[in-house]
Amino acid sequence: MKLAKVQPIVLVGGSNTWGIRNTFHSLLAILTTFLVISFIYIKQDNGTQLSSSSPPQEHEEMIDASQDDDTHHNNVSSSKCDLFNGKWVFDNKSYPLYKDKECKFMSDQLACEKFGRKDLSYQNWRWKPNHCDLPRFNATALLERLRNKRLVFVGDSLNRGQWVSMVCLLHTSLSSSTHTSMHNTANASLNIWKVKEYNATIEHYWAPLLVESNSDDPVHHRVIERTVRVNAIEKHARYWTHADFIVFNTYLWWRRPLMNVLWGTFGDPNGVYKKVEMLRVYEMALRTWSDWLEVHVNRNKTQLFFVSMSPTHERAEEWGADKGDNCYKETEMITEEGYWGKGSDPKMMKVVENVVEDLKTRGLNVEILNITQLSEYRKEAHPSIYRKQWEPLTQKQIQDPNSYADCIHWCLPGVPDVWNEILYAYLFQQ
Ligand SMILES: *[C@@H]1O[C@H](CO)[C@@H](O)[C@H](O)[C@H]1NC(C)=O
Ligand SMILES: *[C@@H]1O[C@H](CO)[C@@H](O)[C@H](O)[C@H]1NC(C)=O
Ligand SMILES: *[C@@H]1O[C@H](CO)[C@@H](O)[C@H](O)[C@H]1NC(C)=O
Ligand SMILES: *[C@@H]1O[C@H](CO)[C@@H](O)[C@H](O)[C@H]1NC(C)=O
Ligand SMILES: *[C@@H]1O[C@H](CO)[C@@H](O)[C@H](O)[C@H]1NC(C)=O
Ligand SMILES: *[C@@H]1O[C@H](CO)[C@@H](O)[C@H](O)[C@H]1NC(C)=O
Repeated sequence: MKLAKVQPIVLVGGSNTWGIRNTFHSLLAILTTFLVISFIYIKQDNGTQLSSSSPPQEHEEMIDASQDDDTHHNNVSSSKCDLFNGKWVFDNKSYPLYKDKECKFMSDQLACEKFGRKDLSYQNWRWKPNHCDLPRFNATALLERLRNKRLVFVGDSLNRGQWVSMVCLLHTSLSSSTHTSMHNTANASLNIWKVKEYNATIEHYWAPLLVESNSDDPVHHRVIERTVRVNAIEKHARYWTHADFIVFNTYLWWRRPLMNVLWGTFGDPNGVYKKVEMLRVYEMALRTWSDWLEVHVNRNKTQLFFVSMSPTHERAEEWGADKGDNCYKETEMITEEGYWGKGSDPKMMKVVENVVEDLKTRGLNVEILNITQLSEYRKEAHPSIYRKQWEPLTQKQIQDPNSYADCIHWCLPGVPDVWNEILYAYLFQQ
């Protein structure tokens, strides 16, 4: 790993223009912290290092949306139709599914329009599977489906982006008299959005490597040396095991050649540490995860999903643009059929597939939401410089997009909404 650019990090409590209630501030600060920190580590993984930096603190914001109606809604039977092969279709009548300013739970890291992005066509694309249509997202129907239930997203900041998207998709379609609440627990690792009228919760649990690691603390995890307790997951899993729907991911935090593995507990002088090739550790961790699921999950109740790796667009030469550039200034998607960037590791995807296949032989089904290919095309849909980190980027930073563009996360509304439309299709498939 090269240690190159240093991105100074500034802590500032910004004011919040859209009047988030005070009670949300600490939660929002933590959420943003997650996003930012994971971004930092991801930057490291991609050969850039952020050094300075102190535990972050900050604000986040929300947005919202309205829905329109439209014509493209056949029913889908995901068993008959491959939802992941298809094409993007321009549809500015139905999309975006919500407006960022109307969702009060929007994250500032993802609110590209709010932070000055002028070309907004990235919001207008519908995913069209080859042999069927995705069902129209109906928030009321989904809330009915989630009545008296928990939908929990477990993973890293990409997974959290999908959670924010889901919250916004639902929130923006609720009438203003609906009672909702947001709170966190488990030392802020678990964030819970509840719609009281439905007794439904949409939650996010922070566990970027799924198993225990030294990156688990939502605030204090300055981790140069990343260490995983590859056999330990119970500390996290107890918070989500009994949920009705669980959507996992874990990918970007693993992107380094070697992982430091700990047998033993953190702080125990008898712990045994060893550096092991990442792919092996990834597999060990996913085995720990699948063993836990096999033993603890109630098959009659819980439905499981795993979201495949989210592609990055940090190296423009991969799609034939100038070396040294990245996703910044991109306004159109990649049209080359089957484009696959170097940031997406098929070997890691294969590990997930094997572990999930093996779990199936043990009677437990995990649906892989294979969003990698469809997201690969969307080089124009990342926040780049149109986002807030702790405070809006400075002029100097904005003038240096090669160092400061975020080409990892996704603008909202945008690509993660489509991941949720696919999840929606599965939630209604019986
Ligand atoms: C949708 O896009 C078309 C073609 O670019 C444009 O003419 C039209 O005004 C747009 N409609 C909306 C609602 O933005
Ligand atoms: C959305 O779902 C609700 C509840 O199932 C249903 O009553 C309503 O007609 C649906 N709306 C649309 C536009 O399909
Ligand atoms: C509310 O939902 C939770 C699951 O989140 C469930 O355990 C509880 O029984 C529900 N309450 C009622 C009154 O149905
Ligand atoms: C929260 O963190 C503290 C200090 O690390 C620990 O003692 C406590 O058990 C944690 N609580 C939960 C609910 O995880
Ligand atoms: C699940 O359902 C089956 C069949 O209805 C039943 O035999 C079994 O006891 C149930 N298992 C649990 C854990 O509830
Ligand atoms: C996901 O899709 C890609 C591209 O279509 C394919 O190569 C890969 O095998 C799929 N992975 C899984 C786990 O289904």
